Amino acid sequence: MSYTKEICKAKLEVHGKTYELPVYEGTEGEQAIDIRNLRAQTGLITYDPGFANTGSCISNITFIDGEKGILRHRGYDIVDLAENCTFLDVSYLLVHGFLPNRDERANFSELMNQHSMLHEDMRRFYNLFPDHAHPMAMLSAMVVSLSTFYPELETNPNEAIDITVTRLLSKLRTIAAFTYKKMRGEPIVYPRPDFSYCENFLNMMFQTPVNKYVPDPVITRALNQLLVLHADHEQNCSSAVVKSVGSSEANLYASISAGVSALWGARHGGANQQVIEMLEMIHNEGKHDIQAVIERAKDKNDSFRLMGFGHRVYKTYDPRARVAKEICRQVLDHLGKKDELLGIAQELEEAALADPYFQQRNLYPNVDFYTGLTYRAIGIPTNMFTVMFAIGRLPGWIAQWLEMRSGSEYKIYRPRQIYNGPTQRDVISNWDRS
Ligand code: ACO
Repeated sequence: MSYTKEICKAKLEVHGKTYELPVYEGTEGEQAIDIRNLRAQTGLITYDPGFANTGSCISNITFIDGEKGILRHRGYDIVDLAENCTFLDVSYLLVHGFLPNRDERANFSELMNQHSMLHEDMRRFYNLFPDHAHPMAMLSAMVVSLSTFYPELETNPNEAIDITVTRLLSKLRTIAAFTYKKMRGEPIVYPRPDFSYCENFLNMMFQTPVNKYVPDPVITRALNQLLVLHADHEQNCSSAVVKSVGSSEANLYASISAGVSALWGARHGGANQQVIEMLEMIHNEGKHDIQAVIERAKDKNDSFRLMGFGHRVYKTYDPRARVAKEICRQVLDHLGKKDELLGIAQELEEAALADPYFQQRNLYPNVDFYTGLTYRAIGIPTNMFTVMFAIGRLPGWIAQWLEMRSGSEYKIYRPRQIYNGPTQRDVISNWDRS
């Protein structure tokens, strides 16, 4: 924040008057017109549906250059982080601002271990959800329920915040695994102190009374990498929701629960589930008619979109998609599995990238295009894919929430609108209404 500087003034001419607005530049050259006093000075507001041109904050966490395909957290490139750090390292980086040293890492792991259990009463909630409940609905409900079991945040916010962050990071993984067990009708598996974060998650998912789970280093590394790829993405839809809810002084659990709900949608994290469903649809039709799918995606009379393609910010290949594709290849090789859906995905990608419709609109594969294929190979069911995304995105949500709440410019989120409904009119008695 301290490096953001005013570089010049922008001039706005309206109704015969000229106004000067400061222009700021961030450390990576992003420039923004400061309109904070616009309405007070001019009586005007800006109009920007979807906030595509609106900077809602000054942030030190994540930098994206969507034209060049760059993603960095606290200055570190996403490819470097995915290659060389665990998910816990990156979580620590996002939340604390620096990578942990050996002692800090050991302490953080130990805290994760201590806070990995759920209050036993929370287990009973699972019995009340119907069998067909979507895991994202259960995840969101369980996260907000944490605030009823661990309410310290409300009573002693400053001291409780660190512990709340740790609790959330550790318990979300447990909640997710218990959700899977509920769907399978299998007994839950408790976390173990001798396993790493990702080993523990896989063990809680796949260990059964008749099937001992032995951690596989290649799968554990792949899971770590996939979670790292999702860890933060600056002011995306779900992070903006987390901050919007948090801006009213709602607690962190309530804010994260809202973020889970936002992530669920098909245009955001829900796309990873929809990609596999789309690939399965092509596969099950038997014809592998890739061109027909491309034509459907281009047809403006059809609401179908090529899932896992396109991005609000990236106008080139999403750097995370490249890494996800390689992880998928490595995992399938390691497991000695052949997945016909991977072949279909590659054909679809090739056809879309060669098509003028996708070229003109700068539509490239996003992170969701290849992640589901790896989850599928590991044995995670399709309807759990967005839950995996939520586990990955959690440290980003927390870091963004903390930055907002501790910042000097912290304000309740409250956009304005251009009202376009009827002007004032009188109520006609219902006897006289035609
Ligand atoms: N398939 C076909 N056409 C598309 C696609 C797609 N996947 N994505 C965008 N377009 C088209 C739109 O129809 C629009 O065309 P037009 O200019 O002729 O009207 C143009 O490209 C721009 O699209 P917008 O929806 O205006 O772009 P926006 O930035 O608002 O949306 C989004 C980005 C939501 C990701 C969009 O590309 C999409 O729906 N993709 C498919 C869903 C998906 O993969 N979501 C995951 C995103 S990544 C993430 O959340 C982790």
